[in-house]
Amino acid sequence: MKFLILIGTMTGNAEIVAEEIDSALAKLNHETTRRDMSDASPADLNDKSSTLIICSSTYGDGEVPDNATDFYNALQTEKPNLKHLNYGIIALGDSVYETFTNGGIRFDTRLQELGASRIGEICRHDASSDQMPEDVALQWLPEWLEEVQKITGAG
Ligand SMILES: Cc1cc2nc3c(=O)[nH]c(=O)nc-3n(C[C@H](O)[C@H](O)[C@H](O)COP(=O)(O)O)c2cc1C
Repeated sequence: MKFLILIGTMTGNAEIVAEEIDSALAKLNHETTRRDMSDASPADLNDKSSTLIICSSTYGDGEVPDNATDFYNALQTEKPNLKHLNYGIIALGDSVYETFTNGGIRFDTRLQELGASRIGEICRHDASSDQMPEDVALQWLPEWLEEVQKITGAG
């Protein structure tokens, strides 16, 4: 299968998570593209054969990180039709904030508004926990992948 991993990060945690997810998928012989959201545009979501993974932290009281803002806003202004798109969300945050993992949740809401379908549960990492974000994401991955395979019918 084909995956596009888009990264929203301020201090690199989400980038490490994305790298780990990328190599786990590559080991399973999936085709992956990994990109910082500052280099992404809504046109990147046109590929009907690709499943999207949003890997984003949260800043500024529940906002997406700075490098994700332009892409997030472009989804709002360009309003692409994303009915063909399946996606998963890995959301990083800290439960000391009321807006825990809201950056990822914002993407979830916006993608659904545009017709895309989330597969599986949102993977949420809490910086106040004693777990590493990449470990939480790698625990989430196998079940999510199974769901993707069921829904897309791909092996
Ligand atoms: C200034 C600041 C604001 C933050 N705001 C939020 C927030 O509103 N909600 C939340 O869940 N986490 C918040 N966080 C926590 C980060 O999202 C979390 O530490 C995450 O792991 C950072 O990942 P990154 O290195 O990929 O940016 C904030 C962290 C900082 C330093």
